[in-house]
Amino acid sequence: MKKLIAESIKKEVGLTESEIENMIEIPPSSAMGDFAFPCFSLSKQLRKSPQQIALDLKSKIKLPKGFSYIEASGPYLNFFLNRKKFAENLIKKILKEKDKFGSSYLGKKRVMIEFSQPNTHKAFHVGHIRGTSLGESLARISEFLGEKVIRANYSGDTGMHIAKWIWCYRKYHSKEELKDDEAWISSIYVDAVKRLSENQEFQNEVDEINRKIENKSDREINRLWKKTRKLSIKSWTRIYRELGTKFDIHYFESEVEKRGKEITNELLKKKIAKKSDGAVIVDLEKYSLGVLVLLRSDGTVLYSAKDLALAERKLREYKLDKSLIVIGNEQDTYFKQLFKTMELMKLKNSKIFSHIPFGMVRFPEGKMSSRTGDNILYSDFIKDVSEFAAKRLQERSLKIPKRELEKRALAVSIAAIKYSMLRQNPRKNIIFIKKDALNFEGDTGPYLLYSYARANSIIKKSNFKKRTFFVPELEPIEIELVKKLSQFSEIVLNAYKNFNPSLIANYSFELAKIFNEFYHACPVIHSENKEFRLKLVNSFKIVLRNSLNLLGIKTLEEM
Ligand code: ARG
Repeated sequence: MKKLIAESIKKEVGLTESEIENMIEIPPSSAMGDFAFPCFSLSKQLRKSPQQIALDLKSKIKLPKGFSYIEASGPYLNFFLNRKKFAENLIKKILKEKDKFGSSYLGKKRVMIEFSQPNTHKAFHVGHIRGTSLGESLARISEFLGEKVIRANYSGDTGMHIAKWIWCYRKYHSKEELKDDEAWISSIYVDAVKRLSENQEFQNEVDEINRKIENKSDREINRLWKKTRKLSIKSWTRIYRELGTKFDIHYFESEVEKRGKEITNELLKKKIAKKSDGAVIVDLEKYSLGVLVLLRSDGTVLYSAKDLALAERKLREYKLDKSLIVIGNEQDTYFKQLFKTMELMKLKNSKIFSHIPFGMVRFPEGKMSSRTGDNILYSDFIKDVSEFAAKRLQERSLKIPKRELEKRALAVSIAAIKYSMLRQNPRKNIIFIKKDALNFEGDTGPYLLYSYARANSIIKKSNFKKRTFFVPELEPIEIELVKKLSQFSEIVLNAYKNFNPSLIANYSFELAKIFNEFYHACPVIHSENKEFRLKLVNSFKIVLRNSLNLLGIKTLEEM
């Protein structure tokens, strides 16, 4: 609709269509029109008061299609939709396009999104849930807009943390059976860290193991590394299933180590890198980016050198138009250094990479997990939240069988967690408060699921199949609902442009709030306008499901 308005006034105001579209506002109340064009900024150029400009425009322009009249109101030009026609067209479109409604086609770009990135032999913690939710949502948004997405994972499976794990397991836990259980795996690592901090001497033993892993000289250690690495990777299968994510490619640091070393040598030869106290560094002081260390003085390759090799590999293996790396904002500076280095080494297409940062997840009590020392483990967290959700669900309905209750509690928990993380700007640090995230009445995942289930039950109860409908005189809340529904595709585009799913999350909440107001104000099944209202409810259901789907949140037909 904004486009139609832009077309109708562009000649008179001498601006481009997109400039006009950006200026158009949605008035605070429908009585003031459905769209408003503010004339302030034209005043200087046209040498007229904004009030005069609005009056002139009103008399000069043609009424755009789908509108019933225009009104000049002070410095604004207000546009009133032909609301019945608008509602009819929109609802027809939603019911026809269903799960495609709101999508647009931006051209077949190939995008790699790297996200989640847990390390083997360590915890999959709450921060990983945030990164996984964000990455998955960005992937779904891109796909919705016609892009081809390659979901990539990248895990640290070498280095000191593995040496610590193996050292601790052999010394203190060798009687325990090896398990593909992330809680057990990370508990060994935590124990290692604790024991090492109590006795400095032990570090020598760990260093020795680290050397043996690096040069693969000890068969027993080598086997243990391979086996436990596999168990770690396997332990993530359940997590990704629960979170609704599947990767197309899983990279590992061990696979890019060798090439990382080679690249470092090439950079030394090209004088892009230099030696400093035995280490190899790239001096980025000139760009106020400090120093990036590629190789330790003992010759071991660092994270950075491996990342250079990884970037090269991503570009070689996939023809990419864009390549995103979703990871915590504590790596902001690091990625600036890395991208600068990629540019200096003239890596072709290095410009297509971007870092999509996100903030930390904390807990109100600053609570720490006993098992992992600092971070809360995925499995502990999900268990805790699910038990709480099960209680809340039981309060609402006592009759759910146990199996079903557990299933629903898990789905509600995942929705609550994902939503609480995605509703905020990704960059913001957040505090996860269980009882707030699981509140069925607030700006929460469960509230949205509940609204969806409510719409579903109205439709099911009505058992009404007629296809055609006629639009009656609309109640104000119905107009509001229709207009909100119509904004969906624009919201999706904005979320895409800003790598920010919170725009979709906030939209879903506003939409559900309007729907619930509508539900309280307007009877559906026992109304003369049953036909139309059912179509409206169904449209709401489709749009809410589409937006939750873009957030990676599965709806429940019943709650
Ligand atoms: N595994 C790394 C970590 O735990 C994150 C990897 C991020 N991606 C990358 N290409 N550096 O910090």
